[in-house]
Amino acid sequence: MYRTHHCNALRVANIGEQVKLAGWVHSRRDHGGVIFIDLRDREGLTQVVFRPEENAEVAEAAHHLRDEDVIQVEGRVAPRVPGTENPKLATGEVELLPARLTILNRADVLPFPLEAENINEDLRLAYRYFDLRRPQLTRNLRIRHRVAKATRDYLDAQGFLEIETPILSKSTPEGARDFLVPSRLAAGKFYALPQAPQQYKQLLMVGGVEKYFQIAKCFRDEDLRADRQPEFTQIDIEASFVRPEEIYTLTEGMLAAIFKAARGMDIPTPFPRLTYREAVGTFGSDKPDRRFGMQLVDFTDDFRASGFKVFRGVIENGGVVKAIKAKGFAGITIGQVDEMTAIAKNFGAKGIAFIKIENGEWKSPIVKFFSEAEKSALQSRLAIEEGDLVFFAADKWDIACEVLGRLRLRVAEIQGLTKDCEQLDFLWVTDFPLLQFDATENKWNAVHHPFTRPHAEDLPLLEEKRYGQMRAEAYDVVLNGVEIGGGSIRIHEPDLQAKMFAVLGVSENDQQTMFGHLLRAFRLGAPPHGGIALGLDRLVMLICGEQSIRDVMAFPKNNRSQDLMSQSPSEVDPRQLRDLGIKIAEEKK
Ligand code: AMO
Ligand code: AMP
Repeated sequence: MYRTHHCNALRVANIGEQVKLAGWVHSRRDHGGVIFIDLRDREGLTQVVFRPEENAEVAEAAHHLRDEDVIQVEGRVAPRVPGTENPKLATGEVELLPARLTILNRADVLPFPLEAENINEDLRLAYRYFDLRRPQLTRNLRIRHRVAKATRDYLDAQGFLEIETPILSKSTPEGARDFLVPSRLAAGKFYALPQAPQQYKQLLMVGGVEKYFQIAKCFRDEDLRADRQPEFTQIDIEASFVRPEEIYTLTEGMLAAIFKAARGMDIPTPFPRLTYREAVGTFGSDKPDRRFGMQLVDFTDDFRASGFKVFRGVIENGGVVKAIKAKGFAGITIGQVDEMTAIAKNFGAKGIAFIKIENGEWKSPIVKFFSEAEKSALQSRLAIEEGDLVFFAADKWDIACEVLGRLRLRVAEIQGLTKDCEQLDFLWVTDFPLLQFDATENKWNAVHHPFTRPHAEDLPLLEEKRYGQMRAEAYDVVLNGVEIGGGSIRIHEPDLQAKMFAVLGVSENDQQTMFGHLLRAFRLGAPPHGGIALGLDRLVMLICGEQSIRDVMAFPKNNRSQDLMSQSPSEVDPRQLRDLGIKIAEEKK
């Protein structure tokens, strides 16, 4: 037996017992010949003290220990010398006095000190197996496990079956680029890794499963960010004979069970709901962070006849004038002004105007164009005070909202308003638009995916080709400004589905080659169905209070989609390529 206890087990009650511990040398201190080792395993730390006067031979061996050596010690549990107890450690009142020391394995020079801050993340990822020993990562993996377990327990209790779906599958139009896998047996043909099990879960509904879930790996070849990875995990759910209300209740119950299990917290349900128009109009985002105010206020009516031509002109052309008040932000630096202007331009604004309130004065080149009535509307509806700053955006509704939404988030970030992970703001965003026009490709795209059901009330708009006004029976669940999940009720009628493909510009021929299986399935008695998928990594990130999903994944890729530890992607043996009938184009080498 390597050990009788783990390293977080020994207490005063164990004093006098003979025990064995095994683990890593977390730290080693030499106090005039007496060697103190903090021995670490997954559970915690125990102090091991080698005194030459008690056992000269073992103490001598301990002299040569280095950080991260793997050792086993056997000895007696003793009280710590009075005054040297460590209240920060669960084992802080005792120590182990070893009679035997066995070195199980040596550690080379370490790539970086385990607990040091500000270590380059690429270096950490190259040595991920070492980095994982950090207590914070150990904790995150444990929380992730608990979240997955709570999910399974909850959904099982609700009658859901966990069913695996293929990884080698067919390209699905989820919106990102597919990862392709060449077929050897059908040379020249490809599988695609699933962006989500969307079609399979719908086909399971046709198969009569009624309640399906899966903790599913998904693969998307897209540009990466802190909350995006090329492979990630979804809690994927689908059910038959359901309306959105039932998906909301199910999801809320599941999230409540998850937060209880992982953080011991009771989250209030049901979650508030905002329509897409309300969320974007009030917060400038379809995933609003409502932990702070700074709401968008609409001044279109106040400036309709304004003497300020820029605003009046925008309104005459069907646009809006909106503003946000950044509390106490009048001290904005020149660098910050440049940054805010760049953000605004990046999201399509022609310009950005702002007013600083300093020494009781409204400072801005545009104030002189404002009438008294306009000023008093601003004053009262924004509750302007000394030291505040007001940003304006005058543009088309969606651009004005997006620009102010981005500025709102950036100001909040600068002011440290987005850090509090104790405060949990859940909400549903409902009634998303069904379709969006892509001007560069001159075609309509699905906002969600092509299987999303139009709002029953808006079906006549389909015939009238007023696609931009159609709402979807689609919903997102948002936590603290992060989209943690999204789903919809689906189209289950073959004719409506075919019509939707046609609107999306999928030719009849392509419908048969790409989606023939789905359309045929819908002709064999498809029940009404719908579902949702939650991003497990994002959810665990928020539960752990982390800023990046990489910190809650055991082996993440870096932001260039590389695994720095195993050096993948990598070149392959030319023979493998030959078997697959693949030649790498010269310019790609
Ligand atoms: P969607 O594409 O919205 O919906 O994805 C659902 C949730 O998955 C998470 N997510 C990601 N997490 C990490 N890295 C990524 N690259 C990534 N992309 C998405 C998000 C998101 O809310 N099949 C539909 C669901 C349905 O309609 O039921 C789907 O995949 O948290
Ligand atoms: P101009 O007449 O274009 O010089 O603009 C006068 C002021 O209005 C400047 O402070 C611009 O930054 C600002 N401005 C111009 N266009 C917009 C817009 N679409 N939204 C908000 N402010 C704008």
